[in-house]
Amino acid sequence: MNSIPSCWAVVPAAGVGKRMLADRPKQYLPLAGKTVIEHTLSRLLASGAFAKVAVAISIEDPYWPELAIARHPDVITAPGGKERADSVLSALKTLQGLASGNDWVLVHDAARPCLTTSDIHLQIQTLKDDPVGGILALSSHDTLKQVEGDVITTTIDRKHIWRALTPQMFRYGLLRDALQQTEGNPAITDEASALELLGFKPKIVEGRPDNIKITRPDDLALAQFHMEQQT
Ligand code: C5P
Repeated sequence: MNSIPSCWAVVPAAGVGKRMLADRPKQYLPLAGKTVIEHTLSRLLASGAFAKVAVAISIEDPYWPELAIARHPDVITAPGGKERADSVLSALKTLQGLASGNDWVLVHDAARPCLTTSDIHLQIQTLKDDPVGGILALSSHDTLKQVEGDVITTTIDRKHIWRALTPQMFRYGLLRDALQQTEGNPAITDEASALELLGFKPKIVEGRPDNIKITRPDDLALAQFHMEQQT
């Protein structure tokens, strides 16, 4: 029996991305000659880090079957869910029987197409002996204010504030159990928050600032700029 844990990638891609104000979900918008999701998946596959990549897709999604990458031998399609956490849990369930409880899962947003191989390997190397896992995150360079209405109530010590990115890397069994136990809880907006709620202490690994999430129309031009800088 192989005792070295494998790594699996899970990509929630079942959102509609209303803030993009586009005619299709943001993961299917064109970016540097491909769709956003093709960049994201190509980068995960090219890293060589993953046994398989499980992608959660809305069952009403007409765009996914049109993409050649949907038929890649290392890509598994799972039905998406109502919220991001439901989509992630659905993808984890498709890995049942393939992944063992101690294996690592890296959950990465479809809408983050600028992820680099170096960040994937940094995260895996940093966390591989950790019992729980952790997330890529960014420190804050700006001074942070707590505000009520338009009035500043206090200045927050930025030493303690980090922005959560993806991938979020956790043990397969622990993550599946945590998402099952916290199902339907609106406070669960990422994988780490499910584990935190159950008393676990995920780590942070400082990631690259170019690992942006496509959220608003201007983000596509920014992503293209980052990709040009990376090559
Ligand atoms: O909307 P937001 O940018 O926070 O979504 C983050 C990721 O979660 C996106 O890749 C989106 O497709 C995915 N998602 C999902 N299922 C949902 C909602 C969002 O897979 N029900």
